[in-house]
Amino acid sequence: MKRSNLQIRGFSKLSKAAKITWLTEQHLSDPARGQELIASYNHADEAVQKRHDEFIENTVANYFLPLGVAPNFLINNQVYTVPMAIEESSVVAAAAKSAQFWMDRGGFHSTVISSTKIGHIHFTFTGDAGALNRLVARIQPELLAATDSITANMRARGGGILSIDVKDRREAMDDYFQLEVRFETRDSMGANFINSCLEEMAKVLRLEAATDSGTASGDLEVVMCILSNYTPECIVRSEVRCALSDLDDGSGLDVQEFARKFQRAVRIAEVEPYRATTHNKGIMNGIDAVVLATGNDFRAVEAACHTYASRDGQYRSLTHCSVEDGEFRFWIEIPLSLGTVGGLTKLHPMVQLALEMLGNPGAHELMGVVAASGLAQNFAALRALTTTGIQKGHMKMHLLNILNQLEATDAEKAHLTSFFADKVPHHADVVHAFCALRGIPTPAAEGVRS
Ligand code: MEV
Repeated sequence: MKRSNLQIRGFSKLSKAAKITWLTEQHLSDPARGQELIASYNHADEAVQKRHDEFIENTVANYFLPLGVAPNFLINNQVYTVPMAIEESSVVAAAAKSAQFWMDRGGFHSTVISSTKIGHIHFTFTGDAGALNRLVARIQPELLAATDSITANMRARGGGILSIDVKDRREAMDDYFQLEVRFETRDSMGANFINSCLEEMAKVLRLEAATDSGTASGDLEVVMCILSNYTPECIVRSEVRCALSDLDDGSGLDVQEFARKFQRAVRIAEVEPYRATTHNKGIMNGIDAVVLATGNDFRAVEAACHTYASRDGQYRSLTHCSVEDGEFRFWIEIPLSLGTVGGLTKLHPMVQLALEMLGNPGAHELMGVVAASGLAQNFAALRALTTTGIQKGHMKMHLLNILNQLEATDAEKAHLTSFFADKVPHHADVVHAFCALRGIPTPAAEGVRS
């Protein structure tokens, strides 16, 4: 392997084959094997492969994640089979288990509270704030007209620009102002739409400020135009509820005790950021998997959810629970900016399949499904944490990963899966049982549990 000089100029201009050759020859001990592996991940249909190649720059290979489905999600009286793209072993199983549990108890009730998105022109201005406000009030028609061609289709679909306001942010930074623009983007996530509108408006703002008699005395410098991924006005709520007695799942659970402990677990995540982070991570297991499967931007969703979780200055749980008058209620309220048109939705064949599986929902309906999936995930995690402990279910799902690492045969997997059916399969115990089955000594390092 030559690792002497990993710098390269003009890499993006190379053909895909040349990129793969350079990459494998410069970085791998066995370039031929690397090339073979990359080739084996190619799509058989050249056109589909080309489309994947063109999603990003410098594509060298496809990267597979499993696409699982969680059936039996009853949401707003409709049954969904929810697509989930995720690598973590227990997530789909947990979602499916929760979905089944709530299916028999009225299901999930999801409501979109609002779907407004926000973008900003961030600028500095050294003149009179009153004059700036008057200017922006006066040039509203020009600001809107500048975006006419961009917003035409969106307006035809009932969306567009909702408001344009000056925000004086000089308490946060010297001379800092924003033009805050609120948008309705209907079934599209709207990032490109919003950014394009803002950039056109910024040109008008700059020009008008330079010639306006009130503001010309102050310097106005546009620093940047960008949507905000924080969408506290694009909110969905999903809820499950049932009589306390209906929490009985036939396992002999003491429902009063369960509800009390469950509620306390949620409360801990409401007051303790260390726990809230893990609690919300589990919620995002469910959310990201559906967001990714449906071709949406999970980084944007993550960023928004975490900002929302800390909106009062402390990071807190995204879910809440109440037990009152014999009723158990558990709900989530989150910002979700999703699209079911545009972006990858018409380009990625598996995204199309995932959306079709969901009945080709609009953005609001998808928000409801995604929120329910986050709530389901959190319900499964808290139920396990407050009863059996998390490792039982988690390691059970992880057992196959361990057996695959050990290169167990199908027969060995079947044997060991049944062997561990009523035990927590800790890594060291699995290695031990595997070695015993094969009649080989357990490696010395396997004394430690991982
Ligand atoms: C693991 O991916 C997620 C959990 O840790 C979430 C939680 O603790 O609530 C199980």
